[in-house]
Amino acid sequence: GARNSTSLRTPIVAVLGHVDHGKTSLLDKIRGSAVIEGEAGAITQHIGATAVPLDVISSIAGDLVDPDDFDLPGLLFIDTPGHHSFTTLRSRGGALADIAILVVDVNDGFQPQTLEALDILKRSETPFIVAANKIDTVPGWNATEDSPINATYEAQTDRVSSRLDESLYEIIGNLSDEGFSADLYWRGQNFQRNVGVVPVSAMTGEGVPDLLTVMMGLSQRYMKEEMEIDVTGPGVGTVLEVKEEKGFGTTIDTVLYDGTIRADDQLVVGGMNEPIVTDVRALLQPRPLAEIRTESRFEKVDEISAASGIKIAAPELEDAMAGAPVRVVRNRDLDEVIQEVEAEL
Ligand code: GTP
Ligand code: MG
Repeated sequence: GARNSTSLRTPIVAVLGHVDHGKTSLLDKIRGSAVIEGEAGAITQHIGATAVPLDVISSIAGDLVDPDDFDLPGLLFIDTPGHHSFTTLRSRGGALADIAILVVDVNDGFQPQTLEALDILKRSETPFIVAANKIDTVPGWNATEDSPINATYEAQTDRVSSRLDESLYEIIGNLSDEGFSADLYWRGQNFQRNVGVVPVSAMTGEGVPDLLTVMMGLSQRYMKEEMEIDVTGPGVGTVLEVKEEKGFGTTIDTVLYDGTIRADDQLVVGGMNEPIVTDVRALLQPRPLAEIRTESRFEKVDEISAASGIKIAAPELEDAMAGAPVRVVRNRDLDEVIQEVEAEL
């Protein structure tokens, strides 16, 4: 594209869905690491943020994505827990997102947290696609690792592909029952009005090239104007988690969705009793493709731009709250920033 990519921010993608339908596995497949193995009982208990740069997306998507067609820097994925007790975390992730992936197990179909996630997406008017996951579990499936969906479809017997079609049409029917017009992603072009359904396997990687292509297309086409933010302005973000970090004290894992944060900035953070006014002690960035939740070797950075996941170390963060706003003061009037944070609590 002609535009300078530094003026476009990374779209934030929430990954939502029922417990065990494969959200973490899908991200895991994408980042090629094994976060899932470090999870207690394989249940995602916290929101994590993973930045995937455009060159990584285009290498996974192969022929489907030409990096020259895109001027977005990549995608920032937010994993959310599917377990029923984590409604707040799910809505926090959903509210932060520019676009979303709703993961549905093809065999298990729509389940309570699938419906709850749809409700969050509906309320926040977040455009989304459906990843119909675990296609490799269709009996008789003939897997081609990491293949785009059309090639792997053709490698199935008629019986296997009609089994898959049945499950996919059931999902499309369920979406329609909830008021969403949906179709297989290669049939519908207008994903603003039509929800695209992408068959995938987080296990074999089949359909993952298509999923990433559709996500990039969706962001590029519909989100671009909103992505054109002043990336040099004072940062604005949301606290995902408040965590003790060895050598740093209390830190906040934050998704920055606007502007920049610098290592010498003053911040206002939403607290349990009142807004916390503090100075950044260190900005700790997970390495690219690393998962903020499990990555222990952070890199200290002087400045970070939206959108990104960043761990902020600062004094007085003990009373900070997950879900609370974070705002950089910089050249602004401190009282005004405090009022903005209070208004968002
Ligand atoms: P929560 O975070 O607890 O909501 O679950 P999740 O949606 O993140 O599911 P997770 O990725 O932890 O996967 C749940 C189980 O399904 C694991 O045992 C995965 O190995 C398995 N699984 C996920 N995706 C696939 C897939 O595409 N095919 C197969 N065969 N198994 C899968
Ligand atoms: Mg998970």
